[in-house]
Amino acid sequence: LGQNLHYFEEVESTQTIAHRLAREGAPSGNVVLADHQQAGKGRLGRSWFSPKGTGLWMSLLIRPHIPLTSVPQLTLLTSVAVLRAVKQLVSIPLHIKWPNDVLCGQKKVAGILTELDAEADRVGYVIIGIGINVNQQEEEFPTELRTKATSLRIEAQKALSRKELAIAILQEWEKLYGLYEQSGFGPVKTLWEAHTCSLGQHIVARTPHGQVEGIARGITDEGVLLLEDGQGTMHKIYSADIET
Ligand code: BTN
Repeated sequence: LGQNLHYFEEVESTQTIAHRLAREGAPSGNVVLADHQQAGKGRLGRSWFSPKGTGLWMSLLIRPHIPLTSVPQLTLLTSVAVLRAVKQLVSIPLHIKWPNDVLCGQKKVAGILTELDAEADRVGYVIIGIGINVNQQEEEFPTELRTKATSLRIEAQKALSRKELAIAILQEWEKLYGLYEQSGFGPVKTLWEAHTCSLGQHIVARTPHGQVEGIARGITDEGVLLLEDGQGTMHKIYSADIET
């Protein structure tokens, strides 16, 4: 991972560049990093605030030999890698909100966006976008984000090296992916469960097919969230906006 590292001062989105590299045949493990994104992309079609010089904006190109239904596992694996890497550098309390937001308290420090190219049931490639608020000061966040987002610097009360953090993430990711290739999703799932704040919580999930409300009971072996509604029916949530 990261033997081919593409660094840009300014891009629209590192995701777009990584997709282009993938279509041009770049091998698994290519990494795209940018200092500034003009049009950073978030989950569910949102935009991602990506100011210059303070965040870690990075996309990984992976060509995994897994079925389409296993792709959510990679997103969960990445959230664990991000959390562990951050913990190497600062000791602040962090947890994961399903599927892959990394929070400090109620505020988001990192988000992950997984996009894929697939044909029938075969995964061509996966682009895993990682966005981390590293060195922003509170006043640098737009007002509407201040109650929802924070940075590592605000929480740890010291600035961090984005380079060290990027290296730690790539190392943690490789370690976890090695474990995943060798032993399957089980051990990664256990780690994810140990770091999440979502399980046992009452949540409202807004999915593309409507709203489901209930208690988050667990994740499946595929990495899908199991939500039990008031009638005791278990729903599988593949993709949603979660409110607690
Ligand atoms: C989310 O909505 O939580 C996901 C945010 C993902 C942001 C990262 S920043 C690097 C990569 N490039 C993008 O345009 N988005 C992802």
